[in-house]
Amino acid sequence: MGGFFDNDRTLPMYKDKPYFTPRRTAPRRWGKPLGILGVFTLFLLWYFYYSPGLPAWKGAESSDKGVELWKWAQSLQNGPTKGPADWAARREKVRDAFIVSWEGYEKDAWGYDEYHPVSGGNRNMVKGGLGWIIVDSLDTMIIMNLTSQVRHARQWIKTSLQYNQDHDVSTFETTIRMLGGLLSANYLSAKYPALAPLTDDDVGAAGEDLYIEKATDLAERLLGAFESPSGIPYASVNLNKSEGLQSHNDGGASSTAEATSIQLEFKYLAKLTGEAEYWKVVENVMQVVDDQKPRDGLVPIYINPKEGAFQGENIRLGSRGDSYYEYLIKQYLQTSEQEPIYKKMWDESMQGIRKHLLAFSKHAQLLVLGERPSGLDGKLSPKMDHLVCFMPGTIALGATGGKPLAEARKSPDWTQQREEEILISKELMKTCWATYRTNPTGLAGEISHFILDEPPVMMANKYPDPSLSSTPKELQSLSLPLTTKDDGTEPWRKDIEIHQMDRHNLQRPETIESIFYMYRITGDEMYREWGWEMFKSFVQHTAVVEEKQSNVSPGNVGAISRIKGFTSLDDALTVPAKKRDNMESFWMAETLKYFYLLFSDRDFVSLEDHVFNTEAHPLPRFKPSGDLKTGLQRKPTL
Ligand SMILES: *[C@@H]1O[C@H](CO)[C@@H](O)[C@H](O)[C@H]1NC(C)=O
Ligand SMILES: *[C@@H]1O[C@H](CO)[C@@H](O)[C@H](O)[C@H]1NC(C)=O
Repeated sequence: MGGFFDNDRTLPMYKDKPYFTPRRTAPRRWGKPLGILGVFTLFLLWYFYYSPGLPAWKGAESSDKGVELWKWAQSLQNGPTKGPADWAARREKVRDAFIVSWEGYEKDAWGYDEYHPVSGGNRNMVKGGLGWIIVDSLDTMIIMNLTSQVRHARQWIKTSLQYNQDHDVSTFETTIRMLGGLLSANYLSAKYPALAPLTDDDVGAAGEDLYIEKATDLAERLLGAFESPSGIPYASVNLNKSEGLQSHNDGGASSTAEATSIQLEFKYLAKLTGEAEYWKVVENVMQVVDDQKPRDGLVPIYINPKEGAFQGENIRLGSRGDSYYEYLIKQYLQTSEQEPIYKKMWDESMQGIRKHLLAFSKHAQLLVLGERPSGLDGKLSPKMDHLVCFMPGTIALGATGGKPLAEARKSPDWTQQREEEILISKELMKTCWATYRTNPTGLAGEISHFILDEPPVMMANKYPDPSLSSTPKELQSLSLPLTTKDDGTEPWRKDIEIHQMDRHNLQRPETIESIFYMYRITGDEMYREWGWEMFKSFVQHTAVVEEKQSNVSPGNVGAISRIKGFTSLDDALTVPAKKRDNMESFWMAETLKYFYLLFSDRDFVSLEDHVFNTEAHPLPRFKPSGDLKTGLQRKPTL
């Protein structure tokens, strides 16, 4: 990589590029110089928001969200509410939970890469931190209109965030969290100027290009990961040297999902900057994968960057497999359905999933999306990682393209097959929901196993042909509602088994993500209610509560309780839940964002105009032009 950072190689900045359009049309607000009064006001604002001496909960006790939320959590009742739900008020509760999470992080771990809410501890990946949590949370804060929090984050990004660190980071995680986070924040701040309205990112202001400059700098460093013999990215990359590193495990293989879930970010960056290199590098990865003609569109979970060949036979839609499929359909949607090749690949995979991986559970006919650890001719393993629960929503997205179902059904190209996909998505959604309901906390374990018949009843055997008009109706008649009795004796519970080592809950987003898609696509209020039950469970069982001395009444000091943050669980099968001392960045980046959007109007950050990357960072759909066009070519099948 000699010369990469030499002065003779200048970074290709978007300003030189023909496709870049100015990000903001809103008029500049800072027409005149600030003047002494303005500067003083800014100083006061700064002092009150960030002065490190002040506690995160400022002002009167009544405005402490942590206290409010704790009181509210005490009053919670489970089960359906009577009367019409106030979704705006519920959305506000999600925002409060975000504020409490963020303030805990600000107070105990500001700038650190890890936050341990129980002990108040923190940890850095490198000296000075890489901003994992800050960058990942940025667009959620814009969406929630958290102006002062966005200002604080921007300040840190501007003054402290440096990507030239001599450190190895995961190519995939860095792409989806950091690059995705910065690109989404850049986009949203222009798309919704009234949300988190800041002046320093306006047109002409000094900070106008902050996010995109950081994103471009980072992307250039990440490109080194793709300089493998095959073009399949190495699992890690040294940011300073822009040098890819093979995985130390798995025989040097990269995860297939990781290698193939970087396109949305780099392609959007290519669109923004007009730099076709970004596009080509990530598209080539798809070429290498597709050249191997994966059987029935299903890919083994490892791929070697040296030969570009799949490694092993393990096939699953959980860890290391998941987002390969997600990015097939999303690449098609991202470029406004101009690249039908990805739709074709997605359809093949859907057929493969239907044929090899979908089975019914024994007692309650739950639809289960299992694994084939020894390849497609080996046995079905009836196990679902929580990660698989991105699928119900993604299948529904694939069926309607994000449109409301009622509208999509009127389209002339609506088929019986799509109708069946909607049914599959609903059934899988119910299964994922069941993995939450089955536990006393109302929260799922990391992995759930299912009880099947022996041999398993496969969907493909029961309903051989998806194009038969009778199939959906028959499938529909299987669908039993998920009753929840107090005595816990319902048959569906007998179908779910959670092993001792899989009882943890990391506050993962996939199930609420799918619920969000299912609600927006089907319009069925039931999904919002499911989401609300789930949110209440998170508040009740993952909140970290502290006691603090306070004026409980005038002149009377006593201890009051407040929620100071939210954390992962070691065990979601016991009450009180056993806590783990870590808040994953996807809690704020994804889980809380999907809750918030589920309770928002359905056209806010609409599914029709956006794709969400696999870290929940929304990016706009666009029509590719110029050098940005499909280069992927499928080899003929012999
Ligand atoms: C990054 O690399 C450059 C040159 O190779 C070096 O001068 C600099 O100190 C490195 N930075 C870090 C944080 O290691
Ligand atoms: C967002 O918050 C600001 C205050 O920070 C407020 O002026 C603005 O009206 C809010 N925007 C929306 C869309 O609610």
